[in-house]
Amino acid sequence: MTAFTLNGREVEVTAEPDTPLLWVIREQLKLTGTKYGCGVAQCGACTLHVDDEPVRACVFPLSAAEGRSVTTIEGLSEDGSHPVQQAWVELDVPQCGYCQSGQIMSAAALLARNPSPSDAEIDTAMAGNLCRCGTYVRIRAAIHRAAEA
Ligand code: FES
Ligand code: FES
Repeated sequence: MTAFTLNGREVEVTAEPDTPLLWVIREQLKLTGTKYGCGVAQCGACTLHVDDEPVRACVFPLSAAEGRSVTTIEGLSEDGSHPVQQAWVELDVPQCGYCQSGQIMSAAALLARNPSPSDAEIDTAMAGNLCRCGTYVRIRAAIHRAAEA
């Protein structure tokens, strides 16, 4: 049994300790906003927060979540009012949308530690989040918009 906090709620799950947190969250806990892309920590689609730090849930073992606070895109805000979410809507960032929860979680973590990032700092922080639709320019603009907010 592994116990942790998920979006502010205590949860307990039974699974092998090395099960990737992504599968626990998607399949056992039924939160499907966090996406599976590559499975090998190369695309960022599965990004969520553990104790406010962005992690790749596809390679993050369940055992490492014990006693910690996990936040997914569903828990970033109750109503989509997080400044990053609002900026994403205002600038119409997504195309297909598949990568976007990971993008938003990485962007939110960036702004939490650096409230006014430069273009270079944004590019560095977001480099591990790939977007096959090429929304990078709008992502950078939306991060600046969220920083202003
Ligand atoms: S699915 Fe985790 S980084 Fe690609
Ligand atoms: S919006 Fe389609 S992969 Fe990023």
